[in-house]
Amino acid sequence: MQLPAPRGPLTERLFAELARPPHAFGPPPAGPYGDRRGDPCFGEEDAQLALFVCYELHYQGVDGVDDRWEWNPSLLTLRERLETWFEGWLARRVPRPPAPPSREVPRALAALVAADDGPSLSAYLRSRANTAQFREFVVHRSIYQLKEADPHTWGIPRLLGRPKAALVEIQSDEYGGGRPERMHAELFRATMRGLGLDDSYGAYLGLVPGATLAITNVMSLFGLHRRRRGALLGHLAAFEMTSSLPNRRYSQGLRRLGGDAGARRYFDEHVQADAVHEQIAAHDMCGAFAAEHPGLTGDILYGAACALTLDRLFAEHLLGRWREGRTSLRETDAEVTVR
Ligand SMILES: [Fe+2]
Ligand SMILES: [Fe+2]
Repeated sequence: MQLPAPRGPLTERLFAELARPPHAFGPPPAGPYGDRRGDPCFGEEDAQLALFVCYELHYQGVDGVDDRWEWNPSLLTLRERLETWFEGWLARRVPRPPAPPSREVPRALAALVAADDGPSLSAYLRSRANTAQFREFVVHRSIYQLKEADPHTWGIPRLLGRPKAALVEIQSDEYGGGRPERMHAELFRATMRGLGLDDSYGAYLGLVPGATLAITNVMSLFGLHRRRRGALLGHLAAFEMTSSLPNRRYSQGLRRLGGDAGARRYFDEHVQADAVHEQIAAHDMCGAFAAEHPGLTGDILYGAACALTLDRLFAEHLLGRWREGRTSLRETDAEVTVR
């Protein structure tokens, strides 16, 4: 992955440091970022991108950036400041659901999902989106889908017994069950190629707004901190529980726009797979984890609520921009390459 253009003083500074060999640097000031009205410095776009790049050092790395930066103390200090800001950002937007008794966790997750009344991006994509809008949607999704399942994999060594077996069962499907061509990230690359998009990892990082980056950042935040493991599992459960029907609609929308079976396969695969994953995630994984950790049931629900809220903010962003006849991507020169 290449570093995209900086979006403000945080990323300007971070990218300049990363271009050099690992060294100590005085990190930029702690947040809040972008919360002071009219403050052009340290905006949310800037902070989300800085956090995303800090996390990327734990995934595929960044071209031209020394791998030793991953555990550099100055870098970790900056990352912690960004995470503290992001946790506050989440806390202001996601009301903490009441902590249910352990045995009620699967039911409470289902109720949380059922109560979600965000706008339906999938209904729009099924019946109304044009090809340019569908491509934009896939560009946004590529930021996560090309590393699909990786953030939740951080949870495996943090679990034991039944919840661990359940998480591994889900992840095994996400990674293709031993067949690289069936990996969900690979199926998504076929969707991208079918739409004439660049399927290389991180190709569109510079084009997506903070609302898109936040969706992946929250998973990395939960995955990389053991104390957040309850939220990580709840997040995955909400993901799986809200996947089957939307993916059917995405497939129908792409068929309406002329997408062939290969391009639609990613979505079709998730209609079946996630109907199964939903059950495993809610009962075998979250239910069993809650039984072992009754003090963490509130965290499970909070992780699920974060997933639902960030998805709603993402849908509102796309639909709002499209309603105005604008692109949902960042309005930079590079936009031309997607349209
Ligand atoms: Fe998947
Ligand atoms: Fe799944």
